[in-house]
Amino acid sequence: MEIARRRKARREGESREWTDISESMGEAANLESDPTEAELAREAEYAELAEEMWDEDESKQSLHSDMDQQTDNWTWMKEKKFSRMFKEIEHRLEGVLGVGKFEWVDRRVFDQVFDQRTLLAVYKLMQQGHIETLDWPIARGKEAHVFHATTPNGEAAVKIFHTSNAVFKGLMQYIEGDPRFGGLRRRHHELVNIWVRKEHRNMMRMAKHGLQLPTPHALFRNVLVMDYIGTDEGPSPRLRDVDVPDPQSVYNELLDWLRICWNDAELVHADFSEYNVLWHHGEPRVIDVGQSVTKQHPHADEFLVRDVTRLVEWAKRQGIEAELADAMAHVLEG
Ligand SMILES: Nc1ncnc2c1ncn2[C@@H]1O[C@H](COP(=O)(O)OP(=O)(O)O)[C@@H](O)[C@H]1O
Ligand SMILES: [Mg+2]
Repeated sequence: MEIARRRKARREGESREWTDISESMGEAANLESDPTEAELAREAEYAELAEEMWDEDESKQSLHSDMDQQTDNWTWMKEKKFSRMFKEIEHRLEGVLGVGKFEWVDRRVFDQVFDQRTLLAVYKLMQQGHIETLDWPIARGKEAHVFHATTPNGEAAVKIFHTSNAVFKGLMQYIEGDPRFGGLRRRHHELVNIWVRKEHRNMMRMAKHGLQLPTPHALFRNVLVMDYIGTDEGPSPRLRDVDVPDPQSVYNELLDWLRICWNDAELVHADFSEYNVLWHHGEPRVIDVGQSVTKQHPHADEFLVRDVTRLVEWAKRQGIEAELADAMAHVLEG
């Protein structure tokens, strides 16, 4: 029904050229360089604000009530330029629209993930040739959804960060109507975009130092495209979900990963665990580096100890005689 409605809206749209939209979307920032002082300051300010305002129970509530009340998230689609754009990419979104092969996809997921700016970002990446089709959802998280995509050069994973998620909703209640925070709606989007840029940058920096992880292909706003780690059957399992044949060598390899990351890339993963390592063709691949910070971060040491502790605990569960003190010494030894 929804699709029929959109089709109708589409028919009603005249054939106005909409290149104006993509032009106004601007270009992605310089991603290779380290963040500027100003960017870092802004990031810290936003992160602090987000933390201050975050109330888990409250935002869960508002997320659900919002979903129940959601009647039409697509009003904006009726605007001619958008219906025209959507017409152009609709067939490339079949897998996430719940039509075609993957009818099990929850419509609410689509509504939750693909707001106007996100769809525009996906469109932009399609235009640039980084995404051909979005095929099926791989995973759904609090901050992001990950989708399988096809590109002109093969497969890819597309991580789409929520811009209208619970965090945002939770924040907005405190912000709307408070004249001191005018403009924060926009700034929240900036916060999400900065987060995605940070993940991208961290990936590039880690890859530069030879660390195994999916290679990033492109990003635009809240959408990050990277290597798909998996097969035709599905994404590679998390280390959590597999019995590895030789845990000792996996332990050694991951400990080296942390060592190189710390000493050479001068980064700490900061959410290292068996949930953020995929087991791919007999090799570990570390993922999820959005929260990774540089050595200079005031909590970098704490994060490093936590990462190493998680690895050691995993190793112990595999029957390996691992010790935190030895592991830390190895990582710090350079
Ligand atoms: N490049 C990828 N290839 C295949 N699956 C991936 C890829 N990146 C993430 N995933 C899947 O998506 C899940 C969530 O991704 P992750 O980056 O860990 O996000 P979150 O911040 O939600 O934890 C992962 O546990 C993994 O199963
Ligand atoms: Mg994760």
